[in-house]
Amino acid sequence: MSLANTVDADIRKANTLPVDFYLDPQFFELSKERIFARSWQFASGPEAEIDLTPLTLLPGFLDEPLLLTKHGKCLSNVCTHRGKILVEQACDANLIRCGYHGRRFSLEGKFLSMPEFDGVENFPTAADDLREIAAAELGSFRFVSLEPIESFENYVAGVDHFFKTEAPLNLTATRDYEVNAHWALYCENYLEGFHIPYVHRGLNEVVDYGTYTTETFRYSSLQTAWSEPPAIAGGSDTDPVARYLFIFPNTMFNFYPWGISVNVVEPIAPAKTRVRFLTYISDESKLKTSAGADLHGVEMEDEAVVESVQKGVRSRYYLHGRYSPTREQGTHHFHRLIAEFMG
Ligand code: FES
Ligand SMILES: [Fe+2]
Repeated sequence: MSLANTVDADIRKANTLPVDFYLDPQFFELSKERIFARSWQFASGPEAEIDLTPLTLLPGFLDEPLLLTKHGKCLSNVCTHRGKILVEQACDANLIRCGYHGRRFSLEGKFLSMPEFDGVENFPTAADDLREIAAAELGSFRFVSLEPIESFENYVAGVDHFFKTEAPLNLTATRDYEVNAHWALYCENYLEGFHIPYVHRGLNEVVDYGTYTTETFRYSSLQTAWSEPPAIAGGSDTDPVARYLFIFPNTMFNFYPWGISVNVVEPIAPAKTRVRFLTYISDESKLKTSAGADLHGVEMEDEAVVESVQKGVRSRYYLHGRYSPTREQGTHHFHRLIAEFMG
């Protein structure tokens, strides 16, 4: 079960990721620890500040019960006594008390007290505290990592400046899509603008294909789309109509003149994926006239093509493909990272 060295560093020589990665359930299982537990995962946006917010990290996949605190910490949401989930609903509180037998913890996760435990030897120890999980902020967005391969600062180096000048954002809509395809097929479609003229007729009318660029960083990549002619769809000579920022392996920040659309890609099964869309608006007045006004329509076009690829990669005649050196740098970079993380 190795993918090491399967994707050449030179895009002109490289084959795409071996098709087994999408099809073999063992790779899907292994990716939980090797890719998802070690990467940085989107946890929340600039929602209301509440003392304690429970979060299941990648429900049905990693399925890890976590607890975000107002002070920027992330704790295990599992009682260290017999394992009950501690906080079931977001709430304000000055301590955490288990609803099963009354064990109490501070908001920092420190064990405080436990009824009927007099005489218990070697108790409490550090193992009775709640486990702290690595957490970090990118502008007003929060990320967590179970076993970080790299500090968050290094993980987002080169792209974090987009969040420094972030205007106040309001979460105006959330929507989940279910796609009948492997999660990586969904991501790799997102990572190239190559398909825009063929798949997205409407989008193609506002995006200038000639000046579309892709830049890659250590664990992220950025696609920039300018408008044609300038100054339509909310773009200008100095502002692109859209920036598509991908943070490996499954977070997408789409910057539009009106705000940010966040997509979080959540594996469910080898051929089933949930994509969460979170819409954050900073300037409502630009919404109707800008690129990204019809996110649902574009999503339907992408889903149709990705589900078609899912059927195609099952064919006994398809083993891998090749890359366009000018149009598929983002997909190549993504496949390289998958091969690296999977080992
Ligand atoms: S499981 Fe929490 S106090 Fe018993
Ligand atoms: Fe697309």
